Amino acid sequence: MNGEDVAMRVIAIDGPAGSGKSTVAKALANRLGLSYLDTGAMYRAVAFAVLRRGGDPESLDQTSAIAEQLTLEVDNGVVLVDGVDATIEIRGQAVSQAVSTVAANPGVRRELVSRQREWTRERGGGVLEGRDIGTVVFPNAELKIYLTADPAERARRRAKEVTDLDYEEVAADISRRDAVDTGREADPLVEATDAVVVDTTGLTIEAVVDRILGLLDRAQPEPS
Ligand code: DC
Repeated sequence: MNGEDVAMRVIAIDGPAGSGKSTVAKALANRLGLSYLDTGAMYRAVAFAVLRRGGDPESLDQTSAIAEQLTLEVDNGVVLVDGVDATIEIRGQAVSQAVSTVAANPGVRRELVSRQREWTRERGGGVLEGRDIGTVVFPNAELKIYLTADPAERARRRAKEVTDLDYEEVAADISRRDAVDTGREADPLVEATDAVVVDTTGLTIEAVVDRILGLLDRAQPEPS
């Protein structure tokens, strides 16, 4: 950490698939006037690039080399991979199936963590959502939130996001990805010891965002 990082306002939102991270992080960034980064979209972009080049997601060297070489722009929900708009395709079945393998690759993680720090520095801070933001990417974040929700509710939300997906398939995919994300050796999904756990089951987005804003107010130093 250098002096520049200390001055940055960084909010870390971690949690499993379908816990509401993206919606909550976006709304929170809006309310705070900060930029928002979906780091999952970056792992998905690497998986997309590997599949597009006919590569093997299981190959550690090939996949991390692609992660290092590709041009990746993630802004306002639009994802450009080597100049190609991959916003829709990174949410499809093929990428969803390959992405946990790609995200378990230590070389890919090293590269993307460095890009995420760079992205945040360029914007003077941000609301970042992912699996390792509070534990690895910004361990000194101003506030760390770990979002959870019932597995059934998470699957329902994901199935709704992508209209042609079947609930049972989504539930199976989510539980497979949870197992890989929490069980992998490189930066597994785990609650940071200083994270505030927020269970979003049955809560509206507004309720979750208000709760987080309340935590931020409380974290502000008293005026002297
Ligand atoms: O949030 P998502 O479902 O779009 O994430 C896609 C995959 O990337 C998922 O398997 C977890 C992984 N991921 C990660 O390992 N670290 C992050 N910071 C973000 C996502």
